Parts: sequence; C-alpha cells; structure tokens
Amino acid sequence: MDAVSGILLVMNVVNNPLARLEDAALTAVHTVGETHAEGVDASLKPSAKPQFGDFQLNAAMALGKKSGRPPREVAALLVDELVAATGGMDGLLEAPEIAGPGFINIRLRPDALAEALDWMDHGELGVETHVRPHAVTVDVCGVNVAKQMHVGHLRATVIGDTVARLFERLGRTVHRQNHLGDWGLPIAMTLHSLLSRQADLEALDLDTLNTAYRDAQLEAKGDARGLEAARTNHCGPHRIAELESQQSSAMAAQEAARSALVALQAGDREMVAAWKRLIEVTMDEVYRAMSLLNTRIDSSSERGESSFRDSLGEVVDAFVRSGLAVEDDEALVVRFEDRERPMLIRKRDGGFLYATTDLAALRYRVQDLDSDEVVYVVDARQRDHFRDVFDACRMIGWADLPDGTRAELVHLGFGTVLGPDKKPLKTRSGSNFKLMDLLEISIERGTAAVKARAADPNAPTHTLSNDELERIGRAVGIAAIKYADLSGDPGRDYLFDLDRMIAFEGDTGPYLQYAHARISSILSKAGDQFDPEAALVTEHPGERSLALMLLRYGGTIAEAAAHLEPSRLCRYLYALATEFNAFYAACPVLKAETETLRASRLRLASITRRVIADGLECLGIDAPDRM
Ligand code: ARG
Repeated sequence: MDAVSGILLVMNVVNNPLARLEDAALTAVHTVGETHAEGVDASLKPSAKPQFGDFQLNAAMALGKKSGRPPREVAALLVDELVAATGGMDGLLEAPEIAGPGFINIRLRPDALAEALDWMDHGELGVETHVRPHAVTVDVCGVNVAKQMHVGHLRATVIGDTVARLFERLGRTVHRQNHLGDWGLPIAMTLHSLLSRQADLEALDLDTLNTAYRDAQLEAKGDARGLEAARTNHCGPHRIAELESQQSSAMAAQEAARSALVALQAGDREMVAAWKRLIEVTMDEVYRAMSLLNTRIDSSSERGESSFRDSLGEVVDAFVRSGLAVEDDEALVVRFEDRERPMLIRKRDGGFLYATTDLAALRYRVQDLDSDEVVYVVDARQRDHFRDVFDACRMIGWADLPDGTRAELVHLGFGTVLGPDKKPLKTRSGSNFKLMDLLEISIERGTAAVKARAADPNAPTHTLSNDELERIGRAVGIAAIKYADLSGDPGRDYLFDLDRMIAFEGDTGPYLQYAHARISSILSKAGDQFDPEAALVTEHPGERSLALMLLRYGGTIAEAAAHLEPSRLCRYLYALATEFNAFYAACPVLKAETETLRASRLRLASITRRVIADGLECLGIDAPDRM
C-alpha cells in the first residue's frame, strides 16, 4: 500500500465509528482466542430484533468449542476487550449483553450513533475511497459493426457500466473497453456487397446496413452438403442444377469477400473509407442507445477487434516461442492440461480467430492499461472461450504486472432475456428484439405512467410542463429496464415483464425513484426549517433502525464492487426505502412533537435522500425530484 492510501485508510477507520467497532471486534477475537482465533467469524451481524441490540457478535461459541472453554465465559472476556477497544465506559458502546449460549448483543450509544451519521453526512456517505496503484478494466457493450443491437447488448452495457461505476465510486481508475466486432470476413462481405451495388453510403442507416449484412451472409452461404446429398440420393436434374448454381454463386461471393478483406487489410483507400463509414453508422445508433441508457460508454471506450489486427502475428509468435502453441493439422493450437479441446489461435490458411484477438486485447488491458483486475461482462455462453483465453494469458505470463501483482481475470457471464413464453425474447413476428425498440417501448410506458399521475391536481408534478414530464417519464422507463437487469443474479435468465418492471410498488427502479422524490418533496415543504447541522436524535426505534441502515451504505458499495454484484446495492436500496417508509409512518417529521425532533428527523430524511440518490447514481439511474 502506498503512503497516501495508507493515511486515508487510517483516517477512515478513526472517523468511521462502524469501522472502529468492526476493528475492535476483530482485535477482541484475536486477543481472547489467541491461536484459536484462526478461521473464527469475527464479523458483526445486524440484529434480527431491536431488543437484541444493533449488532451481534457470535464468535464466543466457535472460540469456546475450539479452546474447550465455556462459551459464556469466553463471551465475557470478549465483552471486556470490546469495551476497552472502543473507548471504555464512555466510548462507542452501551454495556454489551451476553445472551443464551454466548451471543453478544451490542448497542451503540445514542451519541456514538449520531456521531457516525454526522460523519457520513459530512463526507462520502461512508464510502471509503482510496487511491490504488492499478486500474480496473471492464469489457462492456461488445456490439458488432453492421448489426443491430439486441437485448444481449443491453445486459453487457447495463451490467458492465454499473460494475465500472461501482469501482469508480470507490475512487478507482476504470477503463471501459468496448471490444467492437469491427473486423473480419463478415464485415468484408457486407462491404463488398454494398460497394458492388453502389449503395449510397452517406444515406445509410443501421437498418439498411443490417439488411445488407444479412443478405451478404445468405449470398455466401451455399449448401455444399445439400448438393452432395442430392447427388448421392439421385435427385432430379432440376434440383441438382439449382443447388449447383447456388453453390457456385456462394463460392463466388466468398471469394469476392476474401479479396475485399485483403484490400481492406492492405489499406485500400476506398475500402477503408467505406469501412469507417460502416462503423460510424453503427456507432451513431449505439451511442444514441448508450446515452438513453445513461451510461458512461462513449467513443473513448471504443477499442474494437480491428485495433489489434497488427499485433495478432506477434501474439501467435510469442506463444510459439514459449512452446505453448503447437501445430495441429497445419493450424496452431494452445493445449491445456485439464481439457481435451485445444484453443485454436491460427487457422491452416493463416487466418486469426476471435480468441487470438482476445489474447492481444487482454495483454493490452493488463500490461498497457495497467489493470490488476479485468472483468468481462459477456454472454454466459462464451464461458469456455474466456476460460481458454484467461488460462493462456496466465500461462504465458501476461497476467503478471511488473510489480509482481497478478491480475484477476473474471468473466461475469450473463443469462438470456426471456419473453412471456419463457423463450428468448422475440418480437411478435418472431424476429429478435432491437434494443432501440425495447428502449422506446419502456420510455413510452414510463412517460404514460408519469403523465397519468400528473393529471391529479394534488400530484407534485401537476404543474410541470410537458417537456419536464417527458424527461421524468424517460428516466422512469429506463430505470425500470436497468433495475430489472441489475437486481437479479446476472448469470440467470430473466423474464422481461414490463408491467412488473415499471410498477411504482415492489422491488423496482421506479419504486426507488419514487421514494427519492417523496423525500425530496418533504424536504422542499420544510423549506428553510431544514438545518443541515441539526443535532441527531435516535431514540425512537424507527429512527434508530433507519440510522443503522444508513450506516451500512459504505460497506454495501465496497461489497457490491468486491463481489461484482450490483444486486447487493439494489437489495440495500430497496431495504433502505422500505425502512424509510416505516420510519415515516411511525415518526411524524413535519409535524414532530418538538422542534428538536423535527430538525433531527428532517436531517435523517435528508441523509436518506442523499444515500438513495448516490446509490441510484452508482446504478446509472436518474433520481428526479418530483414524480
Ligand atoms: N462482439 C462479441 C459478441 O457479440 C462480444 C465481445 C465481447 N468481448 C470480448 N472481449 N470478446 O459476441
């Protein structure tokens, strides 16, 4: 750890009462347990019921068992240590209680709780940001040039961008890398087909381009097997002639595509200009989707397959030189001890593969972008591919940084988006759902919901202009889609059910936005009665559990990033919004009994609002002030 981050870390532990308490628990377990402490869980669990205090430490049972001492006796020793390490009798804690076989119930003193909240309110909301020596790279989006984006790209974008945001929130340098499919035979095929038709490239849009792509693919797809079968089965001459002519035009198309690729590779001016135009047409629409989706993915993230084209030969050479690549039927392959199937890195005809490009990209990410963690947010079906690529990189040493750090390489594979029939989501006519269409439908639905609410003369949005309502509607529609994608386990398939996703009730994005807007409106009603420095009172159980929930925010962000699980943050925000509602139902805020109480509760509401807004920002979800 470098000096700066060391100092920051120490400051955080000193100032964050919760971190001090956790630290004290760890110290107590080690002091009391001595050699038996190894492997004993010293973490503090939030108590299930308020009468059991705020937290529980359950280490006494395990320690007792290992050391052969009665657990309650061990618990008494732990309590003494804990109190001593947290400032003694007037420190952080009320006198801890020992319950049952040796549970330790811990309660923060009200002033310690207030101090902790005050600390988080004045700083980073309890999120510990520190400088780290290396960056993180996140593979996001991964669209293919000349092809429409589909719902799979939604997931690679939304989950990828959020993982990146979580790391950014922790103060880390993050590189989003969009590994565009922008090179190779299919693209050359499309180029050739467009150029030979003298298509107007200036007027091209992604739909037309996508059609040209499909046509070119079809044109080049002969039916060699069918022809063979027709011959052996002695089909009629007409059928054979038909198949023969299809087959020969397919061969011709493939040949033409190959020479187009050669021209492109050789830097032919017309070809390169047309190729650039294809990328532009594709990316115009991609960036429209990226900005609707409120992501931080832009042209600076673009590093497509083509950008590695000149290093592929050298990548293969490096594997040959190190003895890791061997010839197999005139092709070059890398073999792994624990799997039968080798990884092909150069074809017989000298062509390179998807895997070769990923090897080059991974070396670049670790070595040039200086990353100690590279996360690939890509369809789960590419699992074997990434296993091969990662292992090959480790074997050749490209995962090792000069300072001896070994980069962590992770494939965060996501499942398929399913339609109401539980099959991969399709349009009514059975084609793939275009991402843009999906976004537009959700935005329409969000806008309709917002406008319907605004029609009520008592609604806080009643006086807003149509433009403002549409802006909020867009935020709601996008929140619905993103939250549904982020709140589950990414590896699992999920059902695209817009009715459920867009509801203002239940575990949804709009519910969280609504909670945020409601608190904003309470605060705006309070006007200048709100005092950001008011003393915090946490005597009522509703206040107390809200306060404790707020204190968990920083830890939640750290854990969501460490486990690459945005769903942890979703779960937390949902629990927080629910906790706030319970507090609001039990503790009058604007009509509190005393001025002190009102000021304190307004401040609790304000911290809650800030935490929800900050959390939604980490999820890339807008938090409007009115809904
Ligand atoms: N273009 C690829 C596809 O559509 C995804 C790229 C994923 N990233 C990577 N580094 N291979 O399947």
